[in-house]
Amino acid sequence: MQYGRNDMQEWQAIMSTTSDEKSLIDFRSDTVTQPSPAMRAAMASAPVGDDVYGDDPTVNKLQDALAERFGFAAGLFFPTGTQSNLAALMAHCGRGDEYLVGQEAHTYKYEQGGGAVLASVQPQPLEHEPHGGISLERIAAAIKPNDIHFARTRLLALENTIGGRVLPAAYVQEATTFAHARGLLTHLDGARIFNAAVKSKAPVNSLVVGFDSVSVCLSKGLGAPAGSVLLGSRPTIESARRWRKALGGGMRQAGILAAAGLYALEHNVERLAQDHDNAAYLADGPRELGLGVVPPQTNMVYVDIPERHVQPLTAHLLERGIRTTIGARTRLVTHLDAPRAKIAAALHAFSQYPNWST
Ligand SMILES: Cc1ncc(COP(=O)(O)O)c(C=O)c1O
Repeated sequence: MQYGRNDMQEWQAIMSTTSDEKSLIDFRSDTVTQPSPAMRAAMASAPVGDDVYGDDPTVNKLQDALAERFGFAAGLFFPTGTQSNLAALMAHCGRGDEYLVGQEAHTYKYEQGGGAVLASVQPQPLEHEPHGGISLERIAAAIKPNDIHFARTRLLALENTIGGRVLPAAYVQEATTFAHARGLLTHLDGARIFNAAVKSKAPVNSLVVGFDSVSVCLSKGLGAPAGSVLLGSRPTIESARRWRKALGGGMRQAGILAAAGLYALEHNVERLAQDHDNAAYLADGPRELGLGVVPPQTNMVYVDIPERHVQPLTAHLLERGIRTTIGARTRLVTHLDAPRAKIAAALHAFSQYPNWST
């Protein structure tokens, strides 16, 4: 890997100042970012009220801003994306209903089965296509007939980006049209929809046409400390508001958090392009070492690490202040606290791992 002269000088300076603290960079997720001083200032000065009564002006402003930007009638602030996705599921499906979802989707695999556990909604997980969606054939085959033996298939849930991939716009259009034609509702886990929009150079509202609800996270690439907003029609959002209360998500002076979201929307959307460029830069390092690397579309790099290196490489990197979740398929995520110079330093440390040739 070729490092620019400035990169080299900068990483040497960084390594010398961070070796004691053991915290050079964290590639585990884009959720690890620290709110900036300016974001904290916006939070500290936000006007607030009791949001369970609908009285928080900053929460209302955030909900309205996102609803308008995405082309929905209403929005609802949640503490987390997990709760936002679950409330959407509960707004769309009742006890004994079913949703179709990808095997690798967050709403299936990484939310502890909340739909089944808390909502009595059965997931029907389906294999993904290489682009991250689910083929219309698989969707069609999974829709259950109206028969007393089966759960009622009610909803198709997709995710964009998924594993860092942007769902193709033509696929989204086909899948949502098909789902509606078959009587299903549609939900999008848009935790990283702004990454998809920046990557495809398309306005976010154009990426969510065809969905009955969308959950947008503010605490991923956008850098807010917490918060997601669910978008949908007024009846959908009113139903989700009831479920949010039951799920323990009715917060009081939540404008403190919503202010961080508003700040992020204003300052941290366009800069996601830097994270995408940095992911491409980061991908070059392991590739040049001969490791299998999936070319990143957005801010996630997937690297194949031979099993024998998993533990010693984790220790080698940690010793140099680099936090990663190393596994057979390692995900490295770029974000606003991962500037290029620190990535260069991390790549140098990666290349210095002594056992690559073993
Ligand atoms: C794609 C996706 N959806 C939803 C979530 C859930 O968000 P939260 O951690 O705020 O519950 C995550 C979290 O990383 C995610 O990656």
